[in-house]
Amino acid sequence: MKNRITELFGIQHPIIQGGMHFVGFAELAAAVSNAGGLGTITGLTQRTPADLANEIAKCRELTDKPFAVNLTFLPTVKSPDYPGYIEAIIKGGVKIVETAGRSPQEYMPALKEAGIKVIHKCTSLRHALKAQSIGCDAVSVDGFECGGHPGEDDIPNMILLPRAADELEIPFVASGGMADGRSLVAALALGAEGMNMGTRFIATQEAPVHENVKQAIVAASELDTRLVMRPLRNTERVLNNSAVERILEKEARLGKDLTFNDIIDEVAGVYPRIMKDGEMELGAWSCGMVAGLIHDVPTCQQLIDNIMAEAEQIIRKRLASML
Ligand SMILES: Cc1cc2nc3c(=O)[nH]c(=O)nc-3n(C[C@H](O)[C@H](O)[C@H](O)COP(=O)(O)O)c2cc1C
Repeated sequence: MKNRITELFGIQHPIIQGGMHFVGFAELAAAVSNAGGLGTITGLTQRTPADLANEIAKCRELTDKPFAVNLTFLPTVKSPDYPGYIEAIIKGGVKIVETAGRSPQEYMPALKEAGIKVIHKCTSLRHALKAQSIGCDAVSVDGFECGGHPGEDDIPNMILLPRAADELEIPFVASGGMADGRSLVAALALGAEGMNMGTRFIATQEAPVHENVKQAIVAASELDTRLVMRPLRNTERVLNNSAVERILEKEARLGKDLTFNDIIDEVAGVYPRIMKDGEMELGAWSCGMVAGLIHDVPTCQQLIDNIMAEAEQIIRKRLASML
């Protein structure tokens, strides 16, 4: 398949693996890129810029295909060393950056000067337009279904994607709720030129997470995610578990008085023990509604090959036969 997204990133298939905290390591990024998609290393999972430089070097040993680094701009007061991470990206020769969270405006000159293509992930049309206006090359439009932070507008992709198609000039991919060839064709029909997947890529052979995490996704249905931290305007879609029930109970009880400190035990620093050690009840971890469409743990190559074969079958046979 060929379009502006495959051309922009020099990839075979318009399928991107979004940055994921404690999931997006070199092994997964390289497996996705080797399968013809665009794999992404999650920058902030690496504790220092030097660690990120090592992870980039490791990925380069595992693939000679293009891959990206995700830089998430957090809403925290004490900012990570973003200039240091950007230096590691530039020195590591990475040519694609997925930004997310706050606007990447401040860092655009440095990224552009280094010839880096920037795809900004955002959950609203106004942020997508802003990204376009500050020189981003593409956007990843993240609908309300998505795992992670869906923002506060709650617009699902069935509306958000055609709105983006109406207003944007730069190419965009659909993110949130994407799992298979049907998702890809639907995304293309709604005006996107590819798709970004998070949750689906966790349930793959190469995802360097504990088997419990993969099995939790396979076992989950589309009814099993919850939104937490809405009262803090930092909404996150997570898989339900006992820690999430505790958060929701506190949110209901404390209402407007809730502070981050009230839920710190369930959300702060829990990722390593969940993702690496498989302690599934320890805290809240991001997961999309798309878990309801995930029933297996294929290799990234099998997953991407199946998506492309199914998409082609739908376009050439199912849809063409209706005309
Ligand atoms: C476990 C997990 C961790 C994530 N961590 C990040 C992150 O650190 N930065 C980011 O920009 N997006 C993060 N995301 C969002 C994904 O990159 C992607 O946008 C999202 O998962 C798409 O929705 P889907 O899960 O329905 O495919 C995370 C998602 C998951 C499931």
